[in-house]
Amino acid sequence: MEVFLSSLRELEESGAAAIAAAAAPEELERVRVEYLGRKARLTQLLRGVRELPEEQRPEAGAEANRVKNRLLELLDQRASQLAAAPAAAAPGTDLTLPGRGRWRGARHPCTLVADEICDIFKELGFVRARGPEAETTWYNFTALNTPLDHPAADEQDTFYLAEDIVLRTHTSPVQTRVMEKWKPPVRIVVPGVVYRRDPFDASHAPAFEQIEGLAVDEGISFVEFKASISYFVRRFFGEDTATRFRPSFFPFTEPSAEVDVSCLLCHGEGCSACKGTGWIEIMGAGMVDPAVFDNVGYDSERYTGFAFGMGVGRIAMLRYRIPDIRLLYESDVRFLEQFERA
Ligand code: DAH
Repeated sequence: MEVFLSSLRELEESGAAAIAAAAAPEELERVRVEYLGRKARLTQLLRGVRELPEEQRPEAGAEANRVKNRLLELLDQRASQLAAAPAAAAPGTDLTLPGRGRWRGARHPCTLVADEICDIFKELGFVRARGPEAETTWYNFTALNTPLDHPAADEQDTFYLAEDIVLRTHTSPVQTRVMEKWKPPVRIVVPGVVYRRDPFDASHAPAFEQIEGLAVDEGISFVEFKASISYFVRRFFGEDTATRFRPSFFPFTEPSAEVDVSCLLCHGEGCSACKGTGWIEIMGAGMVDPAVFDNVGYDSERYTGFAFGMGVGRIAMLRYRIPDIRLLYESDVRFLEQFERA
């Protein structure tokens, strides 16, 4: 009898401990089978009651049933605990720690700015076009009235993939590719990445995004050119931003201009951002050179147009006051998360 009772206690203790330690429903089921299943020791002990001397049976039976019921009750409790907390914390886990937020993607400031620029030009009738990043020297230089001995074609600042294939140094070659396919009128904006053997410093990157623009039609005048660009500047930078067209030179425009906007920080007073001039350059532009039309078979007596090209990163830096272009190439999501508009 003593042996019987002490075996029961032992079973009760180890059963209770095994139930408490079960970390998942499947584990709990294994414990149930082990302690209360048909071949379990408790079941055998219960059967053994019959073999005890008659006067001992009531007490032994009662005790065995108590243990059985207690284990059943503990199993029940543990089962509902596990159901309530499916991912039961491992020992040592601090359940009071704040949860990990779900990671949300965000668009890059260059993507935001490029979309905004294209959307403004869309209202003026410009559609988006694309072209290849590996470009022939014909499209990248020659068709744009830039002879191959021009400094821009120099191996010093161009990535050559083969003798007559380069990583495009600007998005301007897409002008030619589109004009070859379409008859005028043409109004396109061309976002895309371009490559130059530039140092990677605070204001240069060897790969960067540009947006090219081209408008060709009968009767496009210098007035339409200036008005379109000034409209874009006011829409993008704000109504009180002034635009300045400074005479310049590009082989594919005549006349050519650098376009400046009044400094967004000092509004023209002169500060460190605009190096004291009150103006910040945002793009190269001009009236399309007739030689470019001749190269695509457009009648240069009948058609005129304007073109422009701007660096998206520079504009993003102005918009978001980013001091160093290299920040645009960081893959740190904490940087990206700052820009997305709601
Ligand atoms: N392609 C020029 C560059 O990358 C920018 C440019 C200047 C584009 C004048 C134009 C333009 O379309 O008319 O520096």
